[in-house]
Amino acid sequence: MGAYLQLKNISKLFYHVKVLDQVSVDFEQGEIHVVIGENGAGKSTLMKIVAGFFKPEEGQIILDGQEVSFQNPLDAIGHHISMIHQELMPIPHLTVAQNIYLGREPVNRLGLLDHAALNQKAKELFEMIGVDINPKALMCSLSTAQVQLVEIAKAVSFQSKILIMDEPTSAISDKEIEKLYDLIFKLKADGVAIVFISHKLDEIFRVADKITVLRDGVLVDTKNACELNKDLLISMMIGRDLTNIYYKVPAQLGEPVLEVCNLSKAGLFHDISFTLHKNEILGVSGLMGAGRTEVMETIFGMIRPDSGEIRIHGQPVEINSPSDAQKHGIALIPEDRKILGLNLKDSTGFNVSICSISNFIKAFMVDNSSENEAIERMIRDLNIKVNSRKTPVVSLSGGNQQKVVIAKWLLTEADILIMDEPTRGIDIGAKTEIYKLITQLVQNGKSVIMVSSELPEIIGMSDRVIVLCEGKLTGELTKDEISQQAIMRHATQQAATH
Ligand SMILES: Nc1ncnc2c1ncn2[C@@H]1O[C@H](COP(=O)(O)OP(=O)(O)OP(=O)(O)O)[C@@H](O)[C@H]1O
Ligand SMILES: [Mg+2]
Repeated sequence: MGAYLQLKNISKLFYHVKVLDQVSVDFEQGEIHVVIGENGAGKSTLMKIVAGFFKPEEGQIILDGQEVSFQNPLDAIGHHISMIHQELMPIPHLTVAQNIYLGREPVNRLGLLDHAALNQKAKELFEMIGVDINPKALMCSLSTAQVQLVEIAKAVSFQSKILIMDEPTSAISDKEIEKLYDLIFKLKADGVAIVFISHKLDEIFRVADKITVLRDGVLVDTKNACELNKDLLISMMIGRDLTNIYYKVPAQLGEPVLEVCNLSKAGLFHDISFTLHKNEILGVSGLMGAGRTEVMETIFGMIRPDSGEIRIHGQPVEINSPSDAQKHGIALIPEDRKILGLNLKDSTGFNVSICSISNFIKAFMVDNSSENEAIERMIRDLNIKVNSRKTPVVSLSGGNQQKVVIAKWLLTEADILIMDEPTRGIDIGAKTEIYKLITQLVQNGKSVIMVSSELPEIIGMSDRVIVLCEGKLTGELTKDEISQQAIMRHATQQAATH
């Protein structure tokens, strides 16, 4: 008898392009099996086949000794296979309990929805798996990490024997990740087969029993995690060694370009002051919910502050909208790329050049050849995996969509670039390319604010770091002072009690 779930020679085409080619992998119960590979390698597609979202052109799925073929995701759920997607899709205006039991809500004798029973069921489910969330809360009031936990709870409620998690930790902070791990380890102990897709190398070695590497739709290998290390894994993934991940060149800080003075917004942040210099990469660290994104959105004109001042090149400015911010040379690469960043149905090229189209105008006309040249350069530099610049963004893999957003803002003439989690969900090879580009940008006189929850990236790239905690600025570290301990101390505000 073979493994619990066996994939045999799975191939998948999208519009005549082979995105999976004869992939064979086995998954066992009670194991955490990590699937890794560059953006566009085919990880999500492979697992969507297992979860009934796509049908393969070739190959077999053998579940518990029986060949199966799923017509749709419900079919897979019926076989106790659940998938939590890279892009979470909760129904925001329903409660947590309603989201979990959607379509199978308990009813009373009159056939009406029995709210009390519904909430009780969810409460018991949460107690069983040790999750502390109010079943009556609206889904839209939850943090990403909580939504993630609710999705897992939902999978548990279907008695899932196979749980697929597509980059579950890419959008949540270190502290919340621990809760997620606890739950995953618990499910593993209960005999669930867990498939875990991730780009975070540290995390992979923490959770994985087995690791499967995909490259360009082809299986590279499956190994026991204990047989691998980071360097080996990187070279399996990208087909070469990667010696220097951070291309940081320490900056000679120039004059202040952006000064934020006593900025406050009730309920979000209080009395924030900092300065960004020419040629500088200013790291912004802090736990989820520290107010980092909100401060950045305020600088970019998306939130009106209650008080405080923003100065650009020494001059106080009024920024009432993102277009005001753009006029002052500020660009924001948003954290939530789906909502704020892209026109999904439009082509990759359109999305890349949309914010910088004015740069390509010659004699009142858009100069298409220079525009296309710039688009092609971005696609090349960021290694965006796409058939042509005409391909609609919607058909790109998650990570490649993110690269499109980054490309779009890198092309603008902005000299202050605010990047909110710039490498979330991006593979290690492309990350390195992005770091290289950021380094070039600041060497060429631009300034970058980099908000990131990944400490190695903050430490590797920043000239200075500011730390926020619960809406307040709790620390400011110069290059020599930057360390994981120092950042964590400020981020959890232990510094204040010392
Ligand atoms: N719905 C779709 N239509 C057309 N092409 C698609 C579709 N979904 C994925 N692809 C293509 O299939 C390939 C594999 O994509 P997939 O999403 O599986 O990558 P991935 O390994 O999950 O990458 P990432 O790390 O960026 O999430 C990519 O080239 C992508 O453009
Ligand atoms: Mg994916």
